[in-house]
Amino acid sequence: MSPFLLTRTLPEDATEAALRADVLRGLTGTPKTLPPKWFYDARGSDLFERITELPEYYPTRAEREILVDRSAEIAEATRARTLVELGSGSSEKTRHLIAALTDLHTYVPVDVSESALTQAGHALIAERPGLHVHALIADFTAALALPTTPGPRLVAFLGGTIGNLPPVERAAFLASIRALLSPGDALLLGTDLVKDEAVLVRAYDDAAGVTAAFDKNVLTVVNRELGADFDPDAFDHVALWDADQEWIEMRLRSRADQTVKVPALGLAVEFAAGEELRTEISAKFRKDGVSAELDAAGLELTHWWTDSEGRFALSLSTC
Ligand code: AVJ
Repeated sequence: MSPFLLTRTLPEDATEAALRADVLRGLTGTPKTLPPKWFYDARGSDLFERITELPEYYPTRAEREILVDRSAEIAEATRARTLVELGSGSSEKTRHLIAALTDLHTYVPVDVSESALTQAGHALIAERPGLHVHALIADFTAALALPTTPGPRLVAFLGGTIGNLPPVERAAFLASIRALLSPGDALLLGTDLVKDEAVLVRAYDDAAGVTAAFDKNVLTVVNRELGADFDPDAFDHVALWDADQEWIEMRLRSRADQTVKVPALGLAVEFAAGEELRTEISAKFRKDGVSAELDAAGLELTHWWTDSEGRFALSLSTC
C-alpha cells in the first residue's frame, strides 16, 4: 500500500466560484479590497518564495531559527503521532519538526495547491520511509474534516499567516481549530511580533521590488481567471503600518483615473487617481494578545518561543 494519500475536499470548480464571489464583493465595496489568498497562483507562490529570501523579510528565517532550536522541545511536549499542517506549501520548515517527532505516524499537509502537496509529500516519504502522508486539498479557513489517524494530534499553522485574518475571522478560525483537537492534542502557531515600524514596512516594501510584483500579481490572477483588463503598471505598491490595529496593510494605489472591466462579472470598476485597493493585512502580535485570543477559543498557552532577536514567536497551546 502506498503511504501517500491525497484527498480533495474542494470541488474542482469551488476555487473559481470563491474567486468570483470575493472579487465581486471586494471591487464593489468601499474601500475596495481583494483577499490575500488570491496572490498564490504558480507565479505568486514563486514570488513569495523569493520574498522569503530577501534581506528585509525576516519572518521566515526567524521562524526557521525557532524550529531548528526548539523542535526537540516541541516533540517532547507533544509526543505527537499525527502532525496536521495548515497551509503547508513546500513543507520546507516543517522538516525539522518532522525529524524531531520520533513517534510520528502520519503527516497531514493541508493546502489548496495540489502540486505543492504532491511534491512535498513524496519528498518527505523519501526522507522518512514508513511515514504515512495523507494530504488534503482544502481551504483551511473553511471547516476541515481530518482523516482518522492516531493521536496525540499536533496542528501546526506556521509562517504568521494567521495575521492575514482580521480579528473577527481570526477568532472563528481559532475556534474551528480548537474543534479539531481532543484532550492531549496541541496547536503550534507562528505569529510575527510587533516591532519597529521601519523594520516592518521594509519587510513589505523591499528594495528589489519583489513584494511590489507579488502585490500586483493578484491583478494578473483576476485578469487571467475572470478576463479582467487590469494594467498592473497603472498601480503603485504601498505598504503601511496601522499603529492602532497593529497590522501592516498592502495596497495598490491607482496612478490615474481609470476604468477596469471584469467581463466574467459584468463589472466596470472605476478607480480615481490615488484611490487604494487593499490587498492584504498582516497583523503583528504580542504575547498577551496571542494568549488572550487562544484563551477565547478554549486553548491554553503552554509554551512561547521567540528567535534570538525577539522578532517572531512560536506558541504551543492545548485544550
Ligand atoms: C505568507 C501571509 C505570512 O503576511 O508576511 C509576504 C505574506 N505578504 N509579503 C506575510 C506576505 C507580503 C506573508 N504570509
